[in-house]
Amino acid sequence: MKAIIPAAGFGTRFLPLTKAQPKEMLPVVNKPTIQWVVEEAVDAGITDIAIITGDHKKSIENHFRPMEKLEKALEKAGKNKELSEVKKISEIANLQFIIQDEQKGLGHAILCAEKFVDGSPFAVLLGDTICTGNPNCTKGLVDIYRQKEKSVFSVETINVEETKRYGIASGNEVEEGILLINNLVEKPGPENAPSLLGIQGRYIFTPEIFDYLKLADFGADGQIQLTDAMNSLSHNQEIYSWTFKGKRYDIGTMKDWFESHIELSIKSGYSSIIQEILSKS
Ligand code: G1P
Repeated sequence: MKAIIPAAGFGTRFLPLTKAQPKEMLPVVNKPTIQWVVEEAVDAGITDIAIITGDHKKSIENHFRPMEKLEKALEKAGKNKELSEVKKISEIANLQFIIQDEQKGLGHAILCAEKFVDGSPFAVLLGDTICTGNPNCTKGLVDIYRQKEKSVFSVETINVEETKRYGIASGNEVEEGILLINNLVEKPGPENAPSLLGIQGRYIFTPEIFDYLKLADFGADGQIQLTDAMNSLSHNQEIYSWTFKGKRYDIGTMKDWFESHIELSIKSGYSSIIQEILSKS
């Protein structure tokens, strides 16, 4: 299975932080957000990955591309640990970069990777969202896909005042934590939300999703919305949601970004530094 990581948006919620620095390159602990996302795909067994970026986001590509000058300098200086760290990043996966010329929305970004996917089922991992948990979120979805051979995406219960930030899904429970979807609405007001199950940003799709993406009109926020295409797909083919029990951080909100630093620093073995800082404040 291949994966698409959309990372082409302007990051408007996080300006001015994201004017020159892509949101997906914001650091969390000791690596940029998008590296956490690529590592999640690789941990789920997916190594053919297309990152959808814009021409204003060259630093994403630069992060993963080999940098000969740096490698030579590290080699010369005998900095072998640093050299292997740097090499590890460019060897992490078989990455392709696809430029989305116009920022027409998440649905349009996925459409840009139709050729790359080449008629097979594929995963989508939003490049500004970190998920933790064991199994990781994408791995959990791949396992469900293998059983059902139908599209599946992860959800979590959100607060009623948050419906305008999410795609909202409703359906009938067919197994514990798994719903057969009958309605999906992108960013509804609370009065129009069919439930409080918010789409988290991890999906597996059958290739038929492209038929519906091509038909999708400009929807919420004037963008071509993936959720709208998923809703149309649900009328013709089964599509499931899965309630992910692990933690999700939306690195497009200050709260989640700060929280991810603290919680993942502790998990990554930096808890003494965090405790030292907290004890002084
Ligand atoms: C996107 C999706 C939305 C999903 C959300 C999760 O919205 O369109 O359905 O719930 O990601 O973060 P965005 O955050 O890009 O506006």
